Amino acid sequence: MASNYQAPRGTFDVLPEEARGRARVEHAAAAIFARAGYERIATPAFEDTELFERGVGRSTDIVRKEMFTFEDKAGRSITLRPEGTAPICRAYLQHGMHKLAQPVKLCYAGPFFRHERPQAGRYRQFHQIGVEAIGTDSPLADAEAIMLLHDLIAELGVPGVELRLGSLGSPGPRRAYLEDLKAHLRAREDELSKDVRERIDLNPLRAFDADDEGTQAVMAGAPTIVERLADEDAEHFADVRSLLEATGIAYTIDPTLVRGLDYYTRTIFSFVCDELGAQSEIGGGGRYDGLIEQLGGSPTPAVGWAAGIERILLALGEVEEAAGRDAFLAVVDESQRQRAMTLAAELRHAGISTEVDLGGRGLKGQLKHADRIGARRVLILEADGGAQLRDMRSGEQRPIEAGRLIDEIGEAGS
Ligand code: HAM
Repeated sequence: MASNYQAPRGTFDVLPEEARGRARVEHAAAAIFARAGYERIATPAFEDTELFERGVGRSTDIVRKEMFTFEDKAGRSITLRPEGTAPICRAYLQHGMHKLAQPVKLCYAGPFFRHERPQAGRYRQFHQIGVEAIGTDSPLADAEAIMLLHDLIAELGVPGVELRLGSLGSPGPRRAYLEDLKAHLRAREDELSKDVRERIDLNPLRAFDADDEGTQAVMAGAPTIVERLADEDAEHFADVRSLLEATGIAYTIDPTLVRGLDYYTRTIFSFVCDELGAQSEIGGGGRYDGLIEQLGGSPTPAVGWAAGIERILLALGEVEEAAGRDAFLAVVDESQRQRAMTLAAELRHAGISTEVDLGGRGLKGQLKHADRIGARRVLILEADGGAQLRDMRSGEQRPIEAGRLIDEIGEAGS
């Protein structure tokens, strides 16, 4: 059987065998966030386009070419959210969260949309989990954010992950640095890729991210921001590093680290996995002390990160086994179907996972089905009201008293 339709390019269906792995990632993340006091927030899947233009930045690839933007029926420009930080800052302002105890620590999970060229680990609809701590400039918050993603990666057992750390400093000192960087790029303009050349003024930092050899050769000798940090920024960065060291989190300083969003200030970080191909970043983020102000609020420092669930699953490279069922109720006689349903409800209420035959199969077919769905016990309900309990692993079968059904299956299931 085939349909004439397929999931759109760059999107995918999450089938039950894949959903199990996802659930494990989401549950592990939710538990880690809850233990550190991060509370769940959910924002809409679409926002006014201008939020991303202002928040993420007009010079970024995301805003320039990757947004799913359309007009609604009233002619307003709407965009499917490409990321979650700008929407959460919008919600922080809209709901007056600055009046709450600061920092406001939030976590989220959900779908995001970017019109990128699809490849392994890069999709047009993907799913992120993430955290944001809004209302503090303490290096403790940077370290805590990093620690949460580090813990999640460790708990899930994602192999081959490395933490890269950098700092972009504050906007003032960064402007002076950017002028030097632009001068460096202009001096060797003819060796740069067209894309980088066109963006010398708009976004010179992105040149560090270029994958063409010409640009890379120019960047090898470029001044880096980490060596030019202003005193306060350097101190903040040193504090973050010593907090990570104190908690035993290994990292490497990457002076060429850049990120695809314009809002970052000071700390930036990236968790990369050598098991993944070109799209090697599992998750990353940083501080964004100017974003809330950029969106119309008063200056409010903040830090956070997001990780791609698909990238985590790719790096884990495993399919989660189905849990199986504690019990399957088979009937040998039509008269017992109602009894099977009532009993199934009782067993389920007692916490025992139970299925009944919904397919009207004969006993042989029901046993085969029970085996396929991984049922550990089958209870065969006989026409006279009696029952047999069959252990699917040993094949052993014995009569069982009606009054003891729940107790016995409960014991068998545990
Ligand atoms: P981002 O680096 O754009 O940051 O995305 C975070 C993560 O989302 C990436 O590391 C990657 O795992 C995943 N991801 C991004 N694009 C795709 C894609 N097309 N397909 C599959 N996975 C993808 C942000 O979005 C920031 N909002 C993070 C942040 C939060 N910074 C501060 N707070």
